[in-house]
Amino acid sequence: MCGIVGIIGNRPVAPLIVDALKRLEYRGYDSAGVATLEGNILDRRRAEGKLVNLETRLNADPLSGIIGIGHTRWATHGVPNETNAHPHFSDDVALVHNGIIENFRELREELIADGYNFASQTDTEVIAHLVSRELKAGKNPADAAHTAILRLEGAFALAIMFCSEDNLIVAARNGPPLAIGHGEGEMYLGSDAIALAPFTNVITYLEDGDWAVIRREDMKIFDASGASVERAKQFSVGSHLMVDKGNHRHFMDKEIHEQPEVIGHTLAHYLDFAEQRVSGLDDVSFNFKELERVTITACGTAYLAGMVAKYWFEHLARLPVDIDVASEFRYREVPMNKDGLSLFITQSGETADTLAGLRYCREQGQHIGAIVNVRESTIARESDVVFPTLAGPEIGVASTKAFTCQLSVLACLAVGAARQRGIINTEQEAQTVRELSEAPRFASQVLKLGPQIEQLARELANVKHILYLGRDTNYPLAMEGALKLKEISYIHAEGYAAGELKHGPIALIDETMPVVVIAPHDQIFEKTVSNMQEVAARGGKIILITDEKGASKAGIDEIKTIILPEMPTIITPLVYALPIQMLAYYTAVHMGTDVDQPRNLAKSVTVE
Ligand code: F6R
Repeated sequence: MCGIVGIIGNRPVAPLIVDALKRLEYRGYDSAGVATLEGNILDRRRAEGKLVNLETRLNADPLSGIIGIGHTRWATHGVPNETNAHPHFSDDVALVHNGIIENFRELREELIADGYNFASQTDTEVIAHLVSRELKAGKNPADAAHTAILRLEGAFALAIMFCSEDNLIVAARNGPPLAIGHGEGEMYLGSDAIALAPFTNVITYLEDGDWAVIRREDMKIFDASGASVERAKQFSVGSHLMVDKGNHRHFMDKEIHEQPEVIGHTLAHYLDFAEQRVSGLDDVSFNFKELERVTITACGTAYLAGMVAKYWFEHLARLPVDIDVASEFRYREVPMNKDGLSLFITQSGETADTLAGLRYCREQGQHIGAIVNVRESTIARESDVVFPTLAGPEIGVASTKAFTCQLSVLACLAVGAARQRGIINTEQEAQTVRELSEAPRFASQVLKLGPQIEQLARELANVKHILYLGRDTNYPLAMEGALKLKEISYIHAEGYAAGELKHGPIALIDETMPVVVIAPHDQIFEKTVSNMQEVAARGGKIILITDEKGASKAGIDEIKTIILPEMPTIITPLVYALPIQMLAYYTAVHMGTDVDQPRNLAKSVTVE
């Protein structure tokens, strides 16, 4: 993870770098730093903690200089403190890095044997020393950087600055994204185009293995072999959408409330309301009719959206789905029939494990489809077909609106698949389209339950453990509820298939254990009631998220209910996601945690 920035400007760059880093804080926020060069002297300010600490330090002790680099960190090697914060220096070299250098131990030993002293515990510092050693051996800065880069194994996006050069930054990419921005007599680089949005929307993306020699007036890009290559300039769309919190206390609250609108936009992209059918599947490189199965790969919340989709594809379209978390999938060496369909679900489009899974599937001759929120991301660019989610920028680290937009896309794809495979007829498709189009209206109604959910959350703020249960599509929702709660409130929570309760987790139930049950009144509601009885008999405190019918049929005393309107089954995952997000949100607010930037997490996970 981590975010990196570099600017070769014609005005003081430290404030500009901090501005860009603010836009990258979603990638990590445990420490930050800026280095600039003036009069052949490299200087830096670094600070532990959020970017605001760095700003305070820079205000007290400003940095001048019209060329500089900056970094916001998510610690991998070495604790988050000032010494481990980037930029790292070695004699005449300053450097910022996003990624992990896997062979850093052997490089470190080699450099120590060569007389280099290490100030930090990071993997990054080896790169600075490697470049420095090549400079001392007489290479020019660009060649020194290239020679050092060739020694690196692992993932990196780098920006390197040199004492002797006030018009040069060398950048390199192997894994994590790197965008180069073109300005008027200025050049910029950043981990994404949004970081550079205040300066330019003309962007060149480096490809894997590329390294670039950037100067005010031009840039040269080389591939891993050292051959000069051309990479297109693109106009970045949407980078102006740097958002604020509006009247909301947190981005997460704002993003939860945006859901009726963004679910609506996303559905409208895939549904032809006039014809009452799923649109946009005619021009893609595959046909669901010809598929024997679909493989879905993703991480975290996006993986749970995929798990919901497994139920939909299998039930609605009679199409088997294999699904796995990307960190496992990428190493499983799954045998795959050529011309199958592999779907990747990702908000950021940069998740390292998901990207590695995609590349594996590409080698296996799969059609690659990506359900992705960031249209200019690496995963979007490497896919055959992009199915965009129209969630807009998601800033809160805990994913909310991206999740329900992913579900919206997947529901449409499952219905489209059912039609292509001849499982549903035109009238059934039209009926399902009408049902899907109701999702934004129901989502708006659920938002009105905020005060009641906030009240319930007050009680949860004092507990140590919580269990979430659900069946069918409510099982992945139970896992999503638990994930949301633990990541922002730090309360231990587990999501289980309700039927699995008696196979182990029931041992946890006593009077101190709240159990959140997600169960709209559907065909298997009665089965979930039996599980609730088992919880109640052992003193567990049930919070049931259901509808009127479910509430009236639960038949359990001492139960708390969050009652949603009755709605078609296909949209329940989209709509029931909201109360579980709200429950986690209000619990975290009562506990006083940093909701938008919870500890140890980052929004975009570009390391494995
Ligand atoms: C949880 C959350 C994460 C992400 C996961 C995948 O709230 O946001 O679990 O879902 O890191 O990220 P993307 O979707 O960017 O691939």
